[in-house]
Amino acid sequence: MSRFHELLVTEVRKTTRDASVVSLRAKDPALFDFVAGQYLTFRHVDDTGEELRRSYSLCAAPNGGTLQVGIKRVEGGVFSSWANDSLRAGMTVEAMAPMGGFHQPFDDPSAARSYLAFAVGSGITPILSILSTLLRDEPNSRFTLVFANRSINTIMFRDELEDLKNRFLGRLNIVHILKTSGDDAELFQGRLDREKCEALFAQWIDVARADRAYICGPEPMMLDIAAALRAHGLTEDQIRFELFGAAPKTRRAVVQSTKNDGVQATITLDGATTEISTNRETSILDTALTNGFDAPYACKAGVCSTCKCKITAGEVEMVANHALEDYEVADGYVLSCQAFAISETVSVVYEDH
Ligand SMILES: Cc1cc2nc3c(=O)[nH]c(=O)nc-3n(C[C@H](O)[C@H](O)[C@H](O)COP(=O)(O)OP(=O)(O)OC[C@H]3O[C@@H](n4cnc5c(N)ncnc54)[C@H](O)[C@@H]3O)c2cc1C
Ligand code: FES
Repeated sequence: MSRFHELLVTEVRKTTRDASVVSLRAKDPALFDFVAGQYLTFRHVDDTGEELRRSYSLCAAPNGGTLQVGIKRVEGGVFSSWANDSLRAGMTVEAMAPMGGFHQPFDDPSAARSYLAFAVGSGITPILSILSTLLRDEPNSRFTLVFANRSINTIMFRDELEDLKNRFLGRLNIVHILKTSGDDAELFQGRLDREKCEALFAQWIDVARADRAYICGPEPMMLDIAAALRAHGLTEDQIRFELFGAAPKTRRAVVQSTKNDGVQATITLDGATTEISTNRETSILDTALTNGFDAPYACKAGVCSTCKCKITAGEVEMVANHALEDYEVADGYVLSCQAFAISETVSVVYEDH
């Protein structure tokens, strides 16, 4: 069973000079049902024959009939440059079914909640989907978005956000923070760091009334914002993160391993179970891939959760985890790209996504 499915590109349009919104149509739409905040993982073979896998958050609200991602060009980035330069309507791309748990949907349309969100640059994509969904599905809830960008010209989805503000009058408050800005007040200029959060919370945003906060952007910024939110009374389970990238860690950098004992791994994928000899220095994912399993993965950096699997016997050590919640880890789930066996035998199950 292939994990990747064909999607027809129906439109590619620029949202800024360096970012494109790509609309897609699935051959089998049921496979691409999603909840707000989820992402697609694309597979693309570049000119050198190398297979690339990259994840992009869905930016439209679910159940609106639109499958859309926003791809911002990263300087020197292979996939994002290809997508911005070469992707055209009529082309076919391959993606896995939607994944990710950034937003846990609420199912109470009568709820009157107050949401906060913080986005930097392309970090707006999952948040746009979440805020469109919440404003549509919870008519009594309110949303405040703090959106940081380099300059006004680099604001992705600027028109869409303005439209939402007009459509949901009084329920969506958008605070733009621009790094380089001509005449805005000092509060709305500079970096979105801890100091900026404190200033915003003192003058503009009432954190005490917030029920939940969503953060998507570079890691240092997310940690700063989360610290500020915690200092103002939000609890861990009220703060949700989505990370787009992280510095890869190798096991050696984290764990002083003196042994290289053999490991018997039992891997179950797509209903078939196979026993494999491996070692403690090879991740569970690499063990699966090098033994011919079509195990799911994308970032290989502990960020996207595409490679999530469950440990049903034995013990593993996870050297980085930027994606799983504590309760998932407590239930035995690991990121297989970051998980290394520390027992002589280990059993791993990749569940159907
Ligand atoms: C769950 C998830 C959702 C994502 N959603 C989106 C999205 O909606 N829109 C979007 O534009 N991107 C998103 N990303 C990031 C995206 O997957 C790619 O990492 C990014 O487009 C760069 O890929 P590339 O092939 O162009 O760059 P690469 O060729 O992989 O990298 C080139 C250089 O850029 C650096 N780099 C890689 N990613 C970033 C980044 N995000 N910011 C700054 N520098 C970087 C690398 O370290 C490297 O030095 C998401 C990532 C994850 C894990
Ligand atoms: S492949 Fe992204 S977390 Fe493992």
